[in-house]
Amino acid sequence: MAKYNPENIKTIGVYASGGDAPGMNAAIRAVVRTAILRKLRVVGITQGYTGMLEKQFADMDLRSVANIIQRGGSILKAGRCPEFIKTENRKIAVDNLRSEGIDALVCIGGDGSFTAANLLWQEHKIPVVGVPGTIDNDIFGTDHTIGFDTAVNTALDAIDRIRDTAASHDRLFIIEVMGRDSGFIAVASGLAGGAEDIFIPEHPFQIDKTVDLIKRGMARGKNSSILVAAEGVKPGRAYDLAESIRKNSGHLATVCILGHIQRGGRPSAFDRLIASRMGSNAVDQLLSGNCDIMVGTKGDNLVHVELSECLKQKKHVNKDLIQLAQILSN
Ligand code: F6P
Repeated sequence: MAKYNPENIKTIGVYASGGDAPGMNAAIRAVVRTAILRKLRVVGITQGYTGMLEKQFADMDLRSVANIIQRGGSILKAGRCPEFIKTENRKIAVDNLRSEGIDALVCIGGDGSFTAANLLWQEHKIPVVGVPGTIDNDIFGTDHTIGFDTAVNTALDAIDRIRDTAASHDRLFIIEVMGRDSGFIAVASGLAGGAEDIFIPEHPFQIDKTVDLIKRGMARGKNSSILVAAEGVKPGRAYDLAESIRKNSGHLATVCILGHIQRGGRPSAFDRLIASRMGSNAVDQLLSGNCDIMVGTKGDNLVHVELSECLKQKKHVNKDLIQLAQILSN
């Protein structure tokens, strides 16, 4: 774990970056309030790394984060910043941070955001602590990321509703959930939603097996089926899957793409709890002289993992849960 002298820290900057996730506001609130109670000045950076390049800085006080714990999205906005890949742009951002008097940062985001945060420490010795905020849950070193629980519940609510229609019309549905590179949302919402099969980017599937599963189900008297696919499933997306099923079985599948509705909405209690704990702890880590780390969860506890470790390693989906969904949907 990287160390620095925390006595030099008078002002911290906080930002959300990457795709927004429900619970980011609860994390911002926790960072701001903990830092102010510890006698620090807090600067909110709007729009993540873009805000650093464009000097979108504003002082925050206890009231700036009032009445936001229950709100989805991010009051500091979020977003990706491809310009940050360039070394010279990172230097501009650091100059801007320094001229604003920002000594250290709390970064709320996913792996792209952590890559940039890690570089700010490695190249410029700006102390940064990461708080994992992404609905995808695909960050190594933490059991949960902020937003995942809410997104799964949003997807599940949609699956339950579609199931009503599937049953009333004897239809087969493929529901596409988010997850470009990872299948955590698909596996969790698929198993909890009683899906017959789940398709994820990390796990090659055989369409014949799925078709067989559907046929056997029908032979046992099943009239409707739900399949859940992550958006990153290969080859192709939900529409290609539907086409393969039609070609291989003659059955028509109706596709429903849930898309960005999974990113919005009131954060669940679970997301607010972990966001509050992680955000507050991130400030305390900075004040203890620890940086270049992420605050994550392991079971009920908070853990600290080096950012380089989070970025190097891949978090694996429990593929046995796909098999369990197949068995339980009998
Ligand atoms: O990383 C979160 C996520 O919602 C992914 O699941 C999805 O693939 C991606 O963001 C969508 O990003 P954008 O909103 O930029 O299209």
